[in-house]
Amino acid sequence: MAEANFISNEELALQNDIAQSIARENEGRSLTFFVETFGCQMNVRDSETIQGELSEMGYTAASEKESADLILYNTCCVREHAEKRLMGNIGALKELYDRKPGMIIGVCGCMMQQDGVGEKLLKRFPHVSLVFGTNVIYRLPEMIRRVMNGERVLVKDRAGDSIAEGLPQLRDNPRSAFVNITFGCDNYCSYCIVPYVRGRERSRDPKDIRDEVASLVRSGITEITLLGQNVNSYGNNGTAGMTFAELLAYVSDVPGLKRLRFMSSHPKDLNEDVMQAIASLPNVCHHVHLPVQSGNDEILRRMNRRYTRERYLSIVRRLRELVPDIEFTTDIIVGFPGETEEAFADTMSLVDEVGFASAFTFAYSPRRGTVAAGMADQIPEAIKKDRLKRLNELQAKKTVENNAKYIGHEGEVLVEGFDCCGEQTMLYGKYQNFKMVYFPGDAGLLNRYVPVRVTKLSKNSLLGEMIHA
Ligand code: 5AD
Ligand code: SF4
Repeated sequence: MAEANFISNEELALQNDIAQSIARENEGRSLTFFVETFGCQMNVRDSETIQGELSEMGYTAASEKESADLILYNTCCVREHAEKRLMGNIGALKELYDRKPGMIIGVCGCMMQQDGVGEKLLKRFPHVSLVFGTNVIYRLPEMIRRVMNGERVLVKDRAGDSIAEGLPQLRDNPRSAFVNITFGCDNYCSYCIVPYVRGRERSRDPKDIRDEVASLVRSGITEITLLGQNVNSYGNNGTAGMTFAELLAYVSDVPGLKRLRFMSSHPKDLNEDVMQAIASLPNVCHHVHLPVQSGNDEILRRMNRRYTRERYLSIVRRLRELVPDIEFTTDIIVGFPGETEEAFADTMSLVDEVGFASAFTFAYSPRRGTVAAGMADQIPEAIKKDRLKRLNELQAKKTVENNAKYIGHEGEVLVEGFDCCGEQTMLYGKYQNFKMVYFPGDAGLLNRYVPVRVTKLSKNSLLGEMIHA
């Protein structure tokens, strides 16, 4: 893990000054922004910072893309199809831009950190005037200023070792928030582009994390998810002065915090201390998102995951022993180079054995510059597709099995939303262990904690009723 390079207060103040001067110029112009986010929670969190900065510059959120004065795509490059979709989306904005030439169209995020991609984009799409990477978000005011001066701007930070604290943020969700604990990744799984685009792993200071959580809780948020590519390596090498297990304890006693979640966990680093923390801290949720990627030891070795199938299963067993109602979710890749039918069968048998509550499943997608992309024994697309289908069918069956355990279950649900079709308003929300349940109720209960009993199962979900005292 790298020593973080904290952006200085002088630099942050300078950016803030630029933002204020832009806000003064924008006064009375009612300018609006639309930020579209692709990919993972890291990007969602980054977009909240970007939106916060844009608000400081006098922009407000547009209700729809078509009416916005500034459109920004926050991109992902973990798998290939995201790129194709983005190019299509940007091409389609040309018509809008021609009708509204003063508008700003920008692209940021992981894909823009890849060599040559931002340059190519600016060349191909003259209506794009702003491109920036993941590690320079704090410089957005300066970039917008340059675009306003007629420049086409491309900014990225190749070192990727910085942390900027105290940036503004604009969050849409009043009940639940993501809080970064680490940035970047040092694990170099052989299929993964993230370490190349998001830079070295660096940890935030525990106090900055706790202060952010406390301030969110003061604003009414009660559910926090700590974010990192591998939360379990938080503070490795002593750079933050605390381990992840210690951080969980330190953050969990923020007064008013009802639910503390974290993701993603890495099986090579999830240790006994973390398991004990999950078992003993009352508001740490009984859910672990624990990407397994494959159930076969040889594939895991070639993926550079640095654990075995047995080690993975032993974590699952130990956590279930300590925390009987714990639920696991996972990420799985099929069709990794060299994956034989036997190796794939090991993934299927692991999925069968663990009984994940749910799984994100992917066909392996070669990423330029990664070790796996250069491996000789690439798997034909048709085989990947067939394995993905078989895996998804198995997981669908396992989800139903997992759901069946919940008949009669009672617990508090944090209400996330409602569906109004039909005669009754159906609310939905999650138990603390991440299981989602639907139940009839009043839309006024949105964002509240409600006791719910599961009464029956529908195809893939739990149905319940409110418990009245
Ligand atoms: N191909 C397919 N899936 C990938 N993931 C990461 N890189 C790739 C790739 N090249 C998946 C992993 C990871 C999740 C976020 O995305 O399963 O856990
Ligand atoms: Fe990618 Fe592995 Fe890092 Fe996750 S832990 S971001 S899969 S390199």
